[in-house]
Amino acid sequence: MPQIIDGKAVSAAIKEELKIKVEELKKQGISICLAVIQVGNDPASSVYVGNKKKACAYIGIDSLAYELPEETTQEELLRLVGELNEKEEVSGILVQLPLPAHIDEDAVIRAIDPKKDVDGFHPQSVGALCIGQHGFVSCTPAGIIQLLKRSGIEIAGKECVVVGRSNIVGKPMALLLLRENGTVTVAHSKTKDLKEVTRRADILVVAVGKPKMITREYVKDGAVVIDVGIHRNENNKLCGDVDFDSVAPVCSAITPVPGGVGPMTIAMLMHNCVEAGILR
Ligand code: GUN
Repeated sequence: MPQIIDGKAVSAAIKEELKIKVEELKKQGISICLAVIQVGNDPASSVYVGNKKKACAYIGIDSLAYELPEETTQEELLRLVGELNEKEEVSGILVQLPLPAHIDEDAVIRAIDPKKDVDGFHPQSVGALCIGQHGFVSCTPAGIIQLLKRSGIEIAGKECVVVGRSNIVGKPMALLLLRENGTVTVAHSKTKDLKEVTRRADILVVAVGKPKMITREYVKDGAVVIDVGIHRNENNKLCGDVDFDSVAPVCSAITPVPGGVGPMTIAMLMHNCVEAGILR
């Protein structure tokens, strides 16, 4: 059987480290505060926002919650973001996505002060990642790098294939693997002969949003497989983009769903909040 990469354990270790760091910062008079904005009451978003607030409380980060009605206008939201940018005590700002259709997400992301952009979604943060400068990095791909490093998996010189090219996961994932000296290929829905491409991978990161799409035919013997997907299957059980039962026997290491990549996103958000607090 392969190594099962334990995202819960790695996330817990990072949160313990951050808790100690936050205590030390408090002694130096530095407190950290994350402002979380949710527009509307999408149930999945409410769960994510609740988990973020809980993680803040656990680590010792203050949080401000703004729960705005679905009808909130773009102008009202931009005004709130502007106010939070100016507030000295707010170190990080997170606007939960997706936003209602009448609001331009890009305009809202651009309005966040890059110094408070703990999601790493601002074009300035993405540009900094692209050219190797300091800036906040999108939490899920940053978490995957931590998972690999803390599981003793070398990235330098490896063939890395990322399936998916979203702004939040696929693209920053490719840039981070490149920063770690991997040889990186990005595959996507228009890739010809996807199996041929994924079978080159020593490290395969899958973020396609299709339940159990990646079966053993897509995976080279001994590859490391990272599954970013999260879905409910026909029996209402959680599953990923990777067919775990099919792939596990042929790979050397794999992330489970749940308990793999998922817990890392919040751990890295907390990491970014602490960085934002220090930066301020
Ligand atoms: N919606 C789903 N994932 C995320 C995330 O990481 N950040 C924000 N802001 N919204 C999300």
